[in-house]
Amino acid sequence: MPIVDRGLSLLTKLQAKNIVKHFDHNGKTVVALDGINLNVEEGDFICIVGPSGCGKSTFLNVVAGLEKPNSGEILLNGKLISTPGPDRIMVFQEGALFPWLKVIDNVEFGLKIAGIPKEERRELSHRYLDMMQLTKFADSYIYQLSTGMKQRVAIARALAMDPEVLLMDEPFAALDSQTRDLLLVELQLIWERTKKTIIFVTHNISESVILGNKVAIFKNRPAKIKKEIVIDYRRPRLAEDENLQKYYHQIVEELKSEVMPHAKDDTQ
Ligand SMILES: Nc1ncnc2c1ncn2[C@@H]1O[C@H](COP(=O)(O)OP(=O)(O)O)[C@@H](O)[C@H]1O
Ligand SMILES: [Mg+2]
Repeated sequence: MPIVDRGLSLLTKLQAKNIVKHFDHNGKTVVALDGINLNVEEGDFICIVGPSGCGKSTFLNVVAGLEKPNSGEILLNGKLISTPGPDRIMVFQEGALFPWLKVIDNVEFGLKIAGIPKEERRELSHRYLDMMQLTKFADSYIYQLSTGMKQRVAIARALAMDPEVLLMDEPFAALDSQTRDLLLVELQLIWERTKKTIIFVTHNISESVILGNKVAIFKNRPAKIKKEIVIDYRRPRLAEDENLQKYYHQIVEELKSEVMPHAKDDTQ
């Protein structure tokens, strides 16, 4: 197949094919994913939005190789994957950082494990610390940082690994709104700069509209993708931009039936 080079590649980076995942919970079977199909193109910033308990984290964990699906396949660059790997790095809601290490040592940790020589990893980590505006805090310890700063470190650490796909599971959910708004802008700028392929999970509709060039709307019961919408709008997008409202309302409409009380999951 010819590769068309118009700045954005038409290659599919990651493909989820009919992913099904069940959990056994108190003697009952919970169908967390009931046939998820998703194509992620190279350089996509794809947001997955849906109500709590609809299977967003489970899907991301399957993509990361942390959970095995009951059936279905994940292909990365056309190759079947079933285990975790440095080609897919996850950023969680809580940074999952090492509190006893300095900021710079946290950022370098994965590079060290990967056997990158010291000088090279110093240079790489400084590049990403700089990108996340953390240079001044390189020698601080994690416990000295605010939640927002910790998330910056977690993002710098993930980017330093130069993954094929960056996976983000509600990374801004614990932040105050001012810090979040700032990081929403910064993440867009970093995405433009690094051209990373990002899958970003959130229950926050505004966040999905601000960040995504595509938004995949997850529904409950059965847990499937209800709709994918394309958001072709200039960047960086700001939370207060009224032109984003139409996308917001489109997603709200799709999700309305999903957040009725009877659809709520009692295991959350
Ligand atoms: N390890 C697990 N064991 C049992 N049930 C689970 C497990 N992980 C998730 N679930 C269930 O799967 C469903 C989807 O969960 P999750 O993917 O965490 O949703 P979301 O991230 O959208 O809030 C929920 O009903 C949840 O209770
Ligand atoms: Mg979740």
